[in-house]
Amino acid sequence: MNEEHELVRRLRDEILRSFNEVLVEENGPEKSVENISSLRKAELQVVGDYNRFDPKARVELLGWVRAIEAPLRAKTVVRENFLICSGSGSGKSFFVEQVGSDLGPRVKFLRLNLAKQSEEEVSRALARLDRLREPTLVLVDEIDARTGEAWPYERIFSYLDGNLLPTRQRVFVLAGSCQGGIRAMVDLIISRPKGPDLLDRIPDDRRFEIPALCREDRAAIFATNVGKAAATRRMRISQIEKLAVYYVVVSENSSRQLRDLAYSAVSRLKAADDRVCFDDLFRRGEQSSHTFCSAHQLAVERLANRWVEI
Ligand SMILES: Nc1ncnc2c1ncn2[C@@H]1O[C@H](COP(=O)(O)OP(=O)(O)O)[C@@H](O)[C@H]1O
Ligand SMILES: [Mg+2]
Repeated sequence: MNEEHELVRRLRDEILRSFNEVLVEENGPEKSVENISSLRKAELQVVGDYNRFDPKARVELLGWVRAIEAPLRAKTVVRENFLICSGSGSGKSFFVEQVGSDLGPRVKFLRLNLAKQSEEEVSRALARLDRLREPTLVLVDEIDARTGEAWPYERIFSYLDGNLLPTRQRVFVLAGSCQGGIRAMVDLIISRPKGPDLLDRIPDDRRFEIPALCREDRAAIFATNVGKAAATRRMRISQIEKLAVYYVVVSENSSRQLRDLAYSAVSRLKAADDRVCFDDLFRRGEQSSHTFCSAHQLAVERLANRWVEI
């Protein structure tokens, strides 16, 4: 009787184990990377070099690109001001910069940074904006910086009425990092001197968050930056090893870190190379590549020496 129980218990454990393995495999990052066959820019592009893999994120962000660009292409007389928020290093500033270059030379791009610029520098930039006749996109970056100081919003808020003038075409995009999303960002702004005046000039339907990165988005951002890094060396990379893509996907790195990882990997290549391998992600002899492989044996088996086109 006892023996029978033991046998049933072992069988049940065995079935559960295989079932779990199947689950892990089917939903796991190994499977996601196995399914990626191409990370070509043409299939990922949102605007300029700002790329996303997830079609939902792409459609959503494309909608914002159009909303920001439209009033700079054809004059309106309402406040065309936007508020963007997402984690640090997630690509907010880059997104707005890429919209700026997408608009071409007819539209000026002006960038203020409340963390980096002094009151004097911001004032000087705003005086320059006053003199500009051309349609202008203004990025006010790091809007959450200098919480203890009153001057940033005091200086800026009245400029957010610029587009109401018949002779001016002005779009402001205010960008900041906030853990709690747009709601927390709004609360933070309201609590600061002239915060309510600033927020009053950003219509509700022009406030948004950059959608969080999914696994494949990380792969796409890494691949984009491999291409860009290669271009700075006048090289052309056509493939990335799937195990390298897997490393990127499970790393939970921010976009900024993915960019740096891509540039470091490309800097290790020889001029004639046209592929990025897993080993290129690490300095020669770096222990962490071995540690990673031992911890991810299934991925090594399935993804080493297999390639994604870029
Ligand atoms: N979607 C993307 N596609 C390609 N590169 C990206 C993307 N998002 C971010 N990056 C890279 O990450 C870097 C950091 O992004 P950044 O805009 O400075 O982050 P944030 O402003 O949110 O702190 C950018 O310079 C860019 O190289
Ligand atoms: Mg930024």
